Amino acid sequence: MKFGHFDDNAREYVITSPRTPLPWINYLGSEDFFSLISNTGGGYSFYRDAKLLRLTRYRYNNVPQDSNGHYYYIKDGDTIWNPGWMPTKTELDFYECRHGCGYTRITGKKNALEATVLSFVPYGDACEVNQVSLKNESSSEKTVDLFSYVEFCLWNAMDDMTNFQRNYSTGEVEIHDNGQEIFHKTEYRERRNHFATYVVNVPVEGYDTDQESFLGAYGENSCPEVVKNGQSKNSVASGWRPIGSHHIKVTLAPGERKAFIFVLGYIENPVEDKWIGAPEDGKVNFKKADEMRKRYDTEEKVTEAFMALEKHWDELLSHFTVSSSEEKLDRMVNIWHQYQCMVTFNMSRSASYYESGIGRGMGFRDSCQDLFGFVHLIPERARERILDIAATQFPDGSAYHQYQPLTKKGNSDIGSGFNDDPLWLIAGAAAYIKETGDYTILDEKTPWDSDPNNVSDFMEHLRRSFNYTVTHKGPHNLPLIGRADWNDCLNLNCFSTEPGESFQTFGPSEGPNAESVFIAGMFIKYGRDWVQILKHRGLDDEAKAAEDAIAEMDAAVKHAGWDGEWYIRAYDHYGNKIGSHDCDEGKIFIEPQGLCVMAEIGLSEGKCLAAMESVERMLDTKYGIVLLQPPYRKYHVELGEISSYPPGYKENAGIFCHNNPWISIAETVVGRGNRAWQVYTRTCPAYIEDISEIHRTEPYVYSQMIAGKDAPNFGEAKNSWLTGTAAWTFLNVSQYILGIRPDYDGLVVDPCIPSELKGFTAKRDFRGTTYNITVKNESGAQKGVKKMLVDGQEIAGNCIPLQDGKAEVNVEVVM
Ligand code: GLC
Ligand code: GLC
Repeated sequence: MKFGHFDDNAREYVITSPRTPLPWINYLGSEDFFSLISNTGGGYSFYRDAKLLRLTRYRYNNVPQDSNGHYYYIKDGDTIWNPGWMPTKTELDFYECRHGCGYTRITGKKNALEATVLSFVPYGDACEVNQVSLKNESSSEKTVDLFSYVEFCLWNAMDDMTNFQRNYSTGEVEIHDNGQEIFHKTEYRERRNHFATYVVNVPVEGYDTDQESFLGAYGENSCPEVVKNGQSKNSVASGWRPIGSHHIKVTLAPGERKAFIFVLGYIENPVEDKWIGAPEDGKVNFKKADEMRKRYDTEEKVTEAFMALEKHWDELLSHFTVSSSEEKLDRMVNIWHQYQCMVTFNMSRSASYYESGIGRGMGFRDSCQDLFGFVHLIPERARERILDIAATQFPDGSAYHQYQPLTKKGNSDIGSGFNDDPLWLIAGAAAYIKETGDYTILDEKTPWDSDPNNVSDFMEHLRRSFNYTVTHKGPHNLPLIGRADWNDCLNLNCFSTEPGESFQTFGPSEGPNAESVFIAGMFIKYGRDWVQILKHRGLDDEAKAAEDAIAEMDAAVKHAGWDGEWYIRAYDHYGNKIGSHDCDEGKIFIEPQGLCVMAEIGLSEGKCLAAMESVERMLDTKYGIVLLQPPYRKYHVELGEISSYPPGYKENAGIFCHNNPWISIAETVVGRGNRAWQVYTRTCPAYIEDISEIHRTEPYVYSQMIAGKDAPNFGEAKNSWLTGTAAWTFLNVSQYILGIRPDYDGLVVDPCIPSELKGFTAKRDFRGTTYNITVKNESGAQKGVKKMLVDGQEIAGNCIPLQDGKAEVNVEVVM
């Protein structure tokens, strides 16, 4: 069952019922100012950091769900309604929500009045613009009341929801132009240099800034007293809960349309310019707010800003496009995969409807992997991101697991000890260099642990990342796992028995025994990139030593990491195998099958193919591949969080979407295009749109997890949007299935596709050249390039050498 449909020309998902199984959201903003917006107008805004600079208040876990947002109420006679249905839930005559790239347009109709709210964050500005248009579709004149409503957050979201004894006394607002412009300036009198503005472009009938006045005693968003009475109270908040609400009276002739522009903005002043005159006079410097207000005070200006945003997205999405007989493939590649990658670039795992924006900042490994998905779109920002991440690294090569986007400093609450982290830095750097050919990044002076007095070039960061694994090996010569590897829940040194202890930070993490075969696979795969980089720098001896270390690891995996039919997952503290046929539960895990096959460990002796067959036999389900089988049914103190989840959820045998593309890529390594495709499509949003009532999260983006076959709600997804799946899937489909893969010295074309796909065309920008690629697969092959022509000239192999100076080339590939 569906709750909407794709509109590919408009690059939108069109939701046609407000009663989606869960709120289906979108993200506004590309640089500093961001908003989350649901299909019913719920959500909130923040500047840069969802924890530290939150503009509007959102109550997670609220009842009813998703019942706070940037709302517009219409009072038409006795009927009060919202264009997005929530929070009044007044039945609408028509409802539609269009989520597009960086904007959302919600339209509701009631009693022959049409209301459309277009929401977006203008490119390069720190505000959310809402254009609210009302159109009278009746044959008589209509007069209605329009009320806006936002609830301000007192900036620090964590403090805001815990420290009421203080916060109920700090709230301050300032009101200009009889309520047309409302400023939220809590704490500006002391150490904050920023405030929020909420302004509309027409004179108002009245306003409110105090929540209790607006809602009424014990009132609620679904029926504010002010709206019911059709009359603002012109309340001035002092402490308690500041809000912003404007009241506009609108009269419309039959057929007439009027638009109103509301702007919610973030303004920051340099400390020396905070005040006009002496601070004790309390005259806030509103100059920047005045300027912002003028930027959007007419419909023409808003249209212009909106078109600039669209152009920005046209440009971004023009670098990689595909055209094939598979409409859903084209849709995902050309729009939604890349769009989700941009959102994960911006958000990491910080703010979604499942990530509260206060828990996690930027993940070290997460952000490194996210790079795979956007480096071709915004290489300069990728470069900056890589160096930001590296600057949090410890001098021994280990890494803070997370850092805060605002301060860019490592998060000491989580600390380090996740032993896969350093290798992801190599993975990210390699992706960047292959895409751009920019080796100068290696020379960038980069701090250790954010200390400007302790700096090395970036090359040294990569070196210590690689060496961290070399110097942290266990009894089987496999890498020590530390607190966890990619699987945050495989906590082999934790041994927690107290409820509430964090599995990731409890106990001495530095066990000398527990080892990870997964990290071994990573070490080999990304170690090869390190070797390439060393060779490029002419460091041949060091390259040779690195190759030896890789060969040793390869031998260690073959000796102690192979179970006969698949790769073992790990060794626990006592030296027992995890993910082996010897185990009662958790006999086989997905992660080492993906990474060790990508690393081609034992490829020639058939281990890779055997591992893939084992995955298909033991982990496959109709909704995707589960993380392990059989699930853990009781808590294992020696394994940690993984066994804490009920069977079928999360890391305990859920379909963890992030590592499904690993298997799909691994299948391309063994050349099974049909199976790679099956794995890709089974979890791919567009391909499962028809089961939206089972899947429940948004049908246009990935979720972190889908309940596995051992869970009662098999097929139900959770934790949508912020997942490494976005980047990995795009990497999979663009570089391995379609096979268009940037390499150090050229562009490789090596498709691995289902035999029924008789070819495709693609356009790929790469190092200044546009490649128009036509792949022909008349023979119904799954892999293997028979012939390749570049501008009509046949070339040997399937790596197109760099086309220096050529703006465009045509490539023909015959499979
Ligand atoms: C979450 C984390 C990611 C981790 C994964 C598996 O998605 O953000 O870092 O690898 O879970 O535990
Ligand atoms: C929990 C989750 C895991 C996530 C981790 C982040 O353990 O199960 O998916 O990566 O928290 O700390």
